[in-house]
This record gives sequence, structure tokens and C-alpha cells, in this order.
Amino acid sequence: MRILCLGDIFGKPGREAVRALLPPLVKREGIDLVIANGENAAGGVGLTPDTAQELLALGIDVLTGGNHIWKHKEIVPLLETEPRVIRPLNYPEGTPGRGAGLFHTAAGTPVGVISVLGRVFMEPVPCPFGASRRAADELRPQARVILVEIHAEATSEKRALGWFLDGKVSAVYGTHTHVPTADEEVLPGGTGYISDLGMTGPYDSVIGMRKEEVLQRFLTQRPTAWTAAKGDVRMCGALFDIDEESGKTRAVQRVRENM
Ligand SMILES: [Fe+2]
Ligand SMILES: [Fe+2]
Repeated sequence: MRILCLGDIFGKPGREAVRALLPPLVKREGIDLVIANGENAAGGVGLTPDTAQELLALGIDVLTGGNHIWKHKEIVPLLETEPRVIRPLNYPEGTPGRGAGLFHTAAGTPVGVISVLGRVFMEPVPCPFGASRRAADELRPQARVILVEIHAEATSEKRALGWFLDGKVSAVYGTHTHVPTADEEVLPGGTGYISDLGMTGPYDSVIGMRKEEVLQRFLTQRPTAWTAAKGDVRMCGALFDIDEESGKTRAVQRVRENM
């Protein structure tokens, strides 16, 4: 089976890229399930119920979150009622929403999806290693195919989680940096891996925001207004070819589609 994972969808340019580029890609590549990160889908920061429903209607089967998922408080009721939208699992007990779920392809194959947040150069949250392993153990009786998204800043932490879960899940892939990495591979135990999918959004920018404004912040060390950029829009992610009997990944391929 073929599962497409898309990196952080950024603002309207990102959503328009999904609208234009996803359906033909799904058809051309015979994709069975689409997982996408939606934490920047609303104006560049956060996800709203409207943007979530818009993306789900465009052919995305599972929307994941990240550290920015809480930006718009209207998302909280949706996290509790819409099983196709998940937030990172490793938040303190009592946090609204779910961090993992069981989904099905059109052919009925069960697929487990787990989202975790890293802790290096990020908010201190409970351990993503233990949380993702426990969630995978819980999903395994129902799904041989399990994917883990690690939303994190440090490639070292993502890579370490890849090794930690090698042979235990089908894939470990990173999001959050908005910069695609070129380290896609299948680890020895059969776990597909890539440190970061990159961004689905405007690359004529600094990680999605207008470059002039971000540059001013670096030059002056004072806060500046940040607005979403518009140019050079790309849809980035990775395509995992997974053996549904064993749950092992056969191949990982980077995806980059330009508008
Ligand atoms: Fe992001
Ligand atoms: Fe993030």
C-alpha cells in the first residue's frame, strides 16, 4: 500500500496547493491514504474548524497538528468530535483531543497514525519516546501498518526516535521545521524514515513568513509583525510504499510538486 504524508500546510497558498496538486498525485501514484500536517493551515499559524474541513474535503484522510494547534481556540471542540484531526499525543493528561487513531484505506486496510511532539528546543512535554511506543503497542492488535509523526525542531531527536521505533512501526517521519531533508531511507528493521517532510506552502519566504519581516527581526533583535508569504508554492512530503502483510516499508520517496 502507498501512504502519502504531507508537510505542514501553510496558509491559503498551502491549501490552494493541496487543492490543485493532491488529486492528480493521488491518481498518478495510486495512493491509498493521505496524512497531512495542518498546524499552519489557518493564516500560517494554527488550524480552524473551517480550514480543517476544507482540507479533509480535498482528499486528506488524517490531519495532524503540532505546537501551533492551539492557536485558535475554536479548534478544541473539533479535536474532541472529529476523529480525522489529531493533536500531538504527549501533552499532559486531560488535554482535549486524541494523539493517535485507527484509520482505514478505501480498500478497508487498517492504518494506525500516531503524532508526537519533540522536546529539544521546544516546550517541555512528556516523553515522546515512551508515548509513541505505548501507543504503537496499543494499535498493533488492530493495525499492522502504523506511522509515527514526530513534530520536532532537532533532527537528532527525530533520528533517535526512528532508531527507537525501527522494526516496531512502519514509518517515522518528521514535521515542524518547514524545510525538507534528503535523508529518506528504510531502516534495517523495515521502518521508513525521513527527518522532515518540509512545508506545503510558499518557499519565497522564511519558513512560510514574508522574508523581509523575518529578516528585520534577525537584524534588529526586536519583534516584528509576521505575515504569510505567497510566492514559489510547493507541496512537499514523502510517499511510503508499505507491505500491508508485514507492516514493513519497502521504499520511501520524497515528494515535491510545484504550483
Ligand atoms: Fe509548522
Ligand atoms: Fe510546529
